[in-house]
Amino acid sequence: TLAEHQQIHDFLVELALRAGQMMLDANPSAATSGSKKNSVDLVTDTDKSIEKMVLTNLKYKYPNYDLLGEESYIPGRKLSDVPTFICDPIDGTINFVHGVPVCNTPDSCGFCKEKQEKLTDYAQQNVCISLALVINKIPVIGVVYNPFQNRLFTAIKGKGAYLNRTERLPLRDRNEPLPGLNKALVAIEWGSERKGNNWDVRTKTMVKLASQGGSMCHSVRCQGSAALDMCGVAAGFLDIFWEGGCWAWDVAAGWCILTEAGGIVADANPGNWKPSVEGRRYLAVRSAPPGDQIAVVEELWDTMEGRFE
Ligand code: IPD
Repeated sequence: TLAEHQQIHDFLVELALRAGQMMLDANPSAATSGSKKNSVDLVTDTDKSIEKMVLTNLKYKYPNYDLLGEESYIPGRKLSDVPTFICDPIDGTINFVHGVPVCNTPDSCGFCKEKQEKLTDYAQQNVCISLALVINKIPVIGVVYNPFQNRLFTAIKGKGAYLNRTERLPLRDRNEPLPGLNKALVAIEWGSERKGNNWDVRTKTMVKLASQGGSMCHSVRCQGSAALDMCGVAAGFLDIFWEGGCWAWDVAAGWCILTEAGGIVADANPGNWKPSVEGRRYLAVRSAPPGDQIAVVEELWDTMEGRFE
């Protein structure tokens, strides 16, 4: 019921805030971080300790629910129809270990000054925790928290999406036209698979999207966090997110937030309007008149060079 969902949402927010403090207190470094599949698939002790904290708490409070976490994922596991919490303890681990500031002038920026006490430690980064509840594989609660920017994106299915609890998403007119790719800002990520068919599709399409003679969109952004890309599309900072290769934990929470903000999610591959949360291919479009959303999805599909496997 909605009341139960509200309670779960509040608990996920509590865990996200706790995790955020763990990120702020950590002292990660690119040199000491570990890697998983390959040398660009990074993990830190903070990823592991946040996941442990979150999953232990959820298991204690909701013993009948399933748990899926990025760091404890067993390859090949599929989601069941049982309500499942999905946790990405740190999305944007590469930004986290390099300490990439989003703000170019943190010392003089009013927003940074207001939000952070220790600017050098806390220079805003594009990093977050992403927590979702999915039921029958549909995301019904999403919580994405970036502690460096103090931005909390949340949604409960049927109850709208919010920034910092009070600002309703999107942050622009829900019906603002999206006239085509040539007026769009598109988020894409490099991902951790750096060769093969999917790499070719990604890079060739990226070039075509940006180039004159192709779609010549306003620009392509690679910000380092798929979850924050989805939230950026939900807010309307970004128009589109297109990705083949990330995982359910990267997008499940953002998916709920985006759809509650009037956005849509299709498959990154042409032709499929009913993508799956664990399908690893996503094309997210911000709120806009439905005709515009459909047209822009079709335009992006037409621009693609090949298909993701
Ligand atoms: C990664 C980020 C990145 C995307 C990768 C993800 P992580 O998540 O979302 O933007 O390109 O595919 O794995 O490893 O930082 O949790």
